[in-house]
Amino acid sequence: MKKLNRRRAILGGGAVLAGGPASQALVRGLSSEGATADVPSNHPHLLSPTGEVDLSAFNPSDFLYAFDYGRTSELPDGRTLREWEIVAVDKEIEVAPGVYFPAWTYNGQVPGPTLRCTEGDRLRVHFSNGGTHPHTIHFHGFHEAGMDGVFELVYPGGEFLYEFDAAPMGLHLYHCHTVPLKRHIHKGLYGTFIIDPKQTRPEAREMVMVMNGFDTNFDNENEIYAVNTVAFHHQQYPIEVKVGELVRIYLVNLLEFDLLNSLHVHGHFFHVYRTGTKLQPDDFTDTIMMCQGERHILELRFRHPGRFMFHAHQSEFAELGWMGFFKVEA
Ligand code: CU
Ligand code: CU
Repeated sequence: MKKLNRRRAILGGGAVLAGGPASQALVRGLSSEGATADVPSNHPHLLSPTGEVDLSAFNPSDFLYAFDYGRTSELPDGRTLREWEIVAVDKEIEVAPGVYFPAWTYNGQVPGPTLRCTEGDRLRVHFSNGGTHPHTIHFHGFHEAGMDGVFELVYPGGEFLYEFDAAPMGLHLYHCHTVPLKRHIHKGLYGTFIIDPKQTRPEAREMVMVMNGFDTNFDNENEIYAVNTVAFHHQQYPIEVKVGELVRIYLVNLLEFDLLNSLHVHGHFFHVYRTGTKLQPDDFTDTIMMCQGERHILELRFRHPGRFMFHAHQSEFAELGWMGFFKVEA
């Protein structure tokens, strides 16, 4: 039997993906009849499926700006204590119109909530496992060995309390660290973890972009690529920004199976703060490439009004969903 090619999987519509009962179940009505109405369908980046993802369950346009600062209180020593409840749950999510993925999630969403705090805060994460497999939360950042989320497996029905001080400042991530790791991460157990510097960064329009992908037919290759889960979402719903305003992107790569991912912004350059651990930029460029687990803060100001594309500079990823537009207003 001819090997299914993942590019054809999305361009050719559901029939090509329907290699077996499992994949058939995941594809409901995927088709490739042109792109959105106001863009030429022959543009190489615009090979999107038609139809609508049900955004009531998860809307990438909201997720972009959804920072979760937790429940705060003051400790006897005057420091801020932040607490979150995170529960692992199995949930089917829609990653492109009619394309469903049996995800494992933190709090029912992929990516999990963006946890945000300030350097020096005390953090408590109450984790419970409502899923069907053992899971953990492994945070990047400074913490004790017993808080690392590697050896302390949390079995279904179990709980664990992660507690540590927020450090170092920067852009970090969290993810399940249960083996097989590749599977536990790819299934959706990951999120962004921001530690703001005590001396705050300049006021900006801030947004989180988690670059991810989905292997919808379980062949250890991704069929769908995206920022924040839904393929082509920001092609249909461009990110609105204003000329001249400071735009800050918290960019995290959690793509599994592919060694590299990247982001390219059209018509503009951005400053790169690698891992966000310094307040001075490391680079000024229009394209950045990242391995899994790498994350950088990007800052840019749009110079011209109009529509500017952003996408993975691996053209294949862009064509399989990892692209979108900024709509820049004067
Ligand atoms: Cu897990
Ligand atoms: Cu990691």
